[in-house]
Amino acid sequence: MSEKLIEVVDNAGVVRLTINRPKALNALNSAVLTELEAVLTELEQRNDLRAVLITGAGEKSFVAGADITEMREKTPEEARTFASQALRAIKRLEALPVPVVALVNGFCLGGGCELALACDWAVASDNAIFGQPEVLLGVIPGFGGTQRLPRRVGPAMAIDLVTTGRKIDAQEALRIGLVNRVMPQAELEAYAEELTQQLAGNGPLAVRAAKQAVHDGMDQDLDSALALETALFAFCFAGEEQKEGMSAFVEKRKPNF
Ligand code: HXC
Repeated sequence: MSEKLIEVVDNAGVVRLTINRPKALNALNSAVLTELEAVLTELEQRNDLRAVLITGAGEKSFVAGADITEMREKTPEEARTFASQALRAIKRLEALPVPVVALVNGFCLGGGCELALACDWAVASDNAIFGQPEVLLGVIPGFGGTQRLPRRVGPAMAIDLVTTGRKIDAQEALRIGLVNRVMPQAELEAYAEELTQQLAGNGPLAVRAAKQAVHDGMDQDLDSALALETALFAFCFAGEEQKEGMSAFVEKRKPNF
């Protein structure tokens, strides 16, 4: 049996996805994207999902970009189809109703950086390297980078990165807000475990509502977005979770969600 390109490990609703092409530094080709979409189809149907972690196999790379060997001979139409497939897969990952964490353990370039940008969290090892080096190959980002990068780090820094193709280290990525945390590679796994346990331990409805408020609100004018927040805030009072959370506070005990 051939090895899976996306390994899936499920720990009580915390699902870890590992892109498994370490010999090509986990570059994203059509086969990886097809497998990712199949995994997402399963995840989208689960209501016990608490958090998703995505990472790259091996110690060297998260994802070193879209697969250059596969793209090299593409016609414009084939390039459009490839980019559309990737955009769809990445959008579906982004739209999962639970927090999605990118565990960036090394190179995070091109399509890899674009994948990380679609995640709610990015946690990086201190040796991670980020960049959108597409212009060095005669193309531009095609997996959403020209749009999600300015939304994450602001247009000036996005223009800098997509027009120079320069690589930045983890500390600079942290400074510009591309990642949430940086830590020594040896501590990254333990931190990811702690983070996902924390996310999984919070009220699942509230965590989903919080993600939805931020994501959906970003696409709306402020008044509509604030109305959305109010609606979701009120919705939280409809279930048991809010009763348990607030009762636990008053009774000086830990909530059991
Ligand atoms: C295909 C890749 C690859 C990629 C690395 N490899 N990145 N294969 N596509 N994006 C392969 C190498 O060819 C090599 O295979 C093996 O992985 C190890 O890589 P090395 O280059 O030998 O490693 P190293 O010297 O450590 O350099 C690491 C690196 C370099 C700096 C990350 O590999 C690199 O610059 N990669 C390309 C990064 C890049 O430009 N990414 C953006 C792609 S464009 P062999 O068989 O020789 O061992 C993109 C556009 C998205 O993402 C939008 C499209 C629509």
